[in-house]
Amino acid sequence: MSELPMTVRADGLPERVTIYEVGPRDGLQNEKTLVPTGVKAEFVTRLLAAGLPVVEATSFVHPKWVPQLADAAELMGLLGEAGRDCPVLVPNERGLDRALELGARHIAVFGSATETFAQKNLNRGLDEQFAMFEPTVRRARDAGLDVRAYVSMCFGDPWEGGVPVEQVVGVGKRLIDLGASQLSLGDTIGVGTAGHVTALVSAFEAAGTATGQLAMHFHDTYGQALANTLAALQAGITTFDASAGGLGGCPYAKSATGNLATEDLVWMLTGLGIEHGVDLGEVVATSVWMARHLGRPSPSAVVRALAESGA
Ligand code: HMG
Ligand code: MG
Repeated sequence: MSELPMTVRADGLPERVTIYEVGPRDGLQNEKTLVPTGVKAEFVTRLLAAGLPVVEATSFVHPKWVPQLADAAELMGLLGEAGRDCPVLVPNERGLDRALELGARHIAVFGSATETFAQKNLNRGLDEQFAMFEPTVRRARDAGLDVRAYVSMCFGDPWEGGVPVEQVVGVGKRLIDLGASQLSLGDTIGVGTAGHVTALVSAFEAAGTATGQLAMHFHDTYGQALANTLAALQAGITTFDASAGGLGGCPYAKSATGNLATEDLVWMLTGLGIEHGVDLGEVVATSVWMARHLGRPSPSAVVRALAESGA
């Protein structure tokens, strides 16, 4: 069993992609086990050491809404200078104040493409969410911070069903207009399929959003995340969110399961000859270590295959 796939390039794909690691935030926000802050700090540090260029560390949301990440300030303290370059989730001005106090340089706001999920996740309506984001993004930008914006439920919503592509583009454009430098399009419940990905990217392009401003955030609930990633690569996307070991989900969307596993993504990119800068063996070792802390095996096929082969 080899540690890496053979590389065979396919035409029309990017030379290089950026993997945006969300395991410590999206992964751990949904775990029943409360992970000690020191273990979280080691998780982030190991992922950075494995070559992941961006590691989203935690969230400055209301601690009662996401108790798993209530130790955000303590974690940032343990991470020190390295933590300031790790993006953190911020929903509102209160969250921004907390992040600014700790010297965060990158934040991410998170909007919803649907009314129901905006209510469930942010306690705001679809339009109301922008009133919360507007001063947050403006003040963050004025303070010199970089702001990413997520759009959730881009491919389907557990309460509303299919979500029209134009509705997603409308929400995404409003977030860019507020000052977000990058939009991460979330398949929160993993229902998207490849043609839908192509159509969504084309719709953003037609509406004037450069492909370089888009990132894809796939959850792997229905096993479509890698197929959807390939469709997005073919459409010119070069930033992909993934979570070490396939941890993840959203506590406010019951059908959300783990993110696309970083290891599964790295395996495919390596096979395609697309540069990513990540050491696969190091990420697998980190996920095996984290799985021991969580008391359950990683759902990633690549982690299982490599861990079992002893690679
Ligand atoms: P709310 O209850 O409407 O808040 O919650 P509020 O503005 O009415 O304030 C009520 C109290 O909370 C006030 O305190 C505020 O100061 C305090 P009081 O004056 O009563 O003492 N408060 C805060 N405290 C600490 N930190 C804060 C904060 N904000 C207010 N940031 C709120 C609104 C947005 C805060 C809440 O709904 C919330 O925290 N939601 C977060 C939910 C969440 O984190 N979901 C998971 C992340 S999203 C996701 O996973 C999807 C993604 O991965 C992409 C994808 O997969 O699609 C990104
Ligand atoms: Mg997510």
